[in-house]
Amino acid sequence: CGIVAYIGSQNAFPIILKGLKRLEYRGYDSSGIALFDEHISCFKKKGRVSELEAWKDSVTQTAQVGIGHTRWATHGEPSDANAHPHTSNNGKLTLVHNGIIENYASLKKELEQKGYKFKSQTDTEVLVNFIEDIQKNNNSTLEEAIRFALKRVIGAYVIIVMEEGYPDRLIAARKGSPLVIGIGDGEHFLASDASPIIEYTKKVIYVNDYELAIISRDEVSLKNLGNEPVTPYIQQLDMELAQIEKGGYDHFMLKEIFEQPDSLTDCLRGRLEPEAGILTLAGVEQNLSAFAQAKRIVIIACGTSWHAGLVAEYMIETLCRIPVEVEYASEFRYRNPVIGVGDVIIAISQSGETADTLVAIEKAKEQGAFIFGVVNAVGSSISRISHAGAYTHAGPEIGVASTKAFTGQLTVLAMMAMKIGKEKGTITAATYQHLIKELGQIPEKVKNTLAAHLKVKEVADKYADARDFLFLGRGYNFPVALEGALKLKEISYIHAEGYPAAEMKHGPIALVDENLPVLFVATKDAYYEKIVSNIQEIKARKGKVIAIVTEGDDLIKGMADDIIEVPETDELLAPLVSVLPTQLLSYYIGVARGLDVDKPRNLAKSVTVE
Ligand code: G6P
Repeated sequence: CGIVAYIGSQNAFPIILKGLKRLEYRGYDSSGIALFDEHISCFKKKGRVSELEAWKDSVTQTAQVGIGHTRWATHGEPSDANAHPHTSNNGKLTLVHNGIIENYASLKKELEQKGYKFKSQTDTEVLVNFIEDIQKNNNSTLEEAIRFALKRVIGAYVIIVMEEGYPDRLIAARKGSPLVIGIGDGEHFLASDASPIIEYTKKVIYVNDYELAIISRDEVSLKNLGNEPVTPYIQQLDMELAQIEKGGYDHFMLKEIFEQPDSLTDCLRGRLEPEAGILTLAGVEQNLSAFAQAKRIVIIACGTSWHAGLVAEYMIETLCRIPVEVEYASEFRYRNPVIGVGDVIIAISQSGETADTLVAIEKAKEQGAFIFGVVNAVGSSISRISHAGAYTHAGPEIGVASTKAFTGQLTVLAMMAMKIGKEKGTITAATYQHLIKELGQIPEKVKNTLAAHLKVKEVADKYADARDFLFLGRGYNFPVALEGALKLKEISYIHAEGYPAAEMKHGPIALVDENLPVLFVATKDAYYEKIVSNIQEIKARKGKVIAIVTEGDDLIKGMADDIIEVPETDELLAPLVSVLPTQLLSYYIGVARGLDVDKPRNLAKSVTVE
């Protein structure tokens, strides 16, 4: 979910509405705004944030304080009643919440026994009434009641609360979900990330876990749950408004795909000097001994970032000869994993806020592991709790399906493997120099690959009506097959499976007939001959073969129904180019099917619930 709030001297509604639109990537099944004029009034609706526009002219134009929310359903289906904000039974407290209150059922039972009534199925309505109840029983201030309530609440949250009778104050608190406060002149902006704030101010405070913020027009006071003051750390944002706008493209996803030559250049900037044969990666260099002495490396991530982790497994094992395990954060955190001193954890996350990843690394950290974050969002929670890290510097990624963040992750992970391999002496100086040179050419090769986007569109139009899709690859391209299948599912709702090309004969081959498109990621590498045989196996069963191949590959051209060429590079870096046609394919198929590619149904970009 995404939350926004404003307190100042401007008309609050349009500011909050615009902010919610910027945060829609965090959830978009219902939304709402509560405004504080003389009293609090609340407007909420199922559907996209744009539904709220209907109230643009009818809401009070004088309210200068308000809170807003865009929802990704957890407890209770998307509906007007389940949309936030939620108001307590006595009508005094109105609240927005991002996160999950895990013990909401027992709290709800307690409250129901006391006569509380609930209009929604949400955990949030339980929380707001729980706070009201404490306030009534203890005759306490809102601030005290929130502190008390949050000590009893299990789960993750950011909340922002308004109280009747106190029009000059917002109270916010955080544990586990993100909250940024923007500091203006006589005004403050609150949001789940900086995107709703950037056009008003660049001065921000990132609120930490277990902190409470009391915000008026002129002041922010931070306290911990023990009621001790905390000195706010004010930071300067280095993000521009243009970075979070579409800039002439039809969709953010397409813009972000085409940004990759630049985002990868940004990722390499100051780190790679191909001419001089130099690679510097401060986060790794400062911790070389931790990496070089690691007994093993465990990579923790979710979704697309997990696929980047799989590529890294191949890279690190090849160049550094350190055993690598790649874990789904959600499984790792609950498995009582065997982890301790001497283990190195690499957490990969675009948003830096994914709840499962965050908790998994907190747990590993407690057990003595060294945590290295590969994160895109600067200042995010994962980057802050890691011992060290390297940013991917892909810039804000708004399209829900990850594209440029993924190639940024691959680039950082390749640099890490090269650096550690060199330190350990597990690669030769010649290999190291060769990879530096190849990596330096990647932005240009990415640009050339994208220049042939119309060929991919042609293929997309041909297969847009497919019911199922199979994606196959081997070696470094196996995770690319998984990622291609995930992307297609997310964007086009076509059922797609990614598989190791050789493993296909142990199951998925049963699906092959003349209607099944099978996409092979088959660039020239050590597995080339093997994958050519796999293509034959599919052709022998009349499957339709689409192949992503290295430029000039006439052999596969002669067998496949459709081919998409990518420039040649070292096999370790091949995913950086071979993934691009899969991104474009999903995009064009999604568009051909008339779907909202930037906001696919049921998904959210930043999943801050477990
Ligand atoms: C969500 C997004 C995915 C993303 C995953 C992990 O499910 O829809 O695109 O890969 O979260 O997110 P992270 O921000 O940790 O990389």
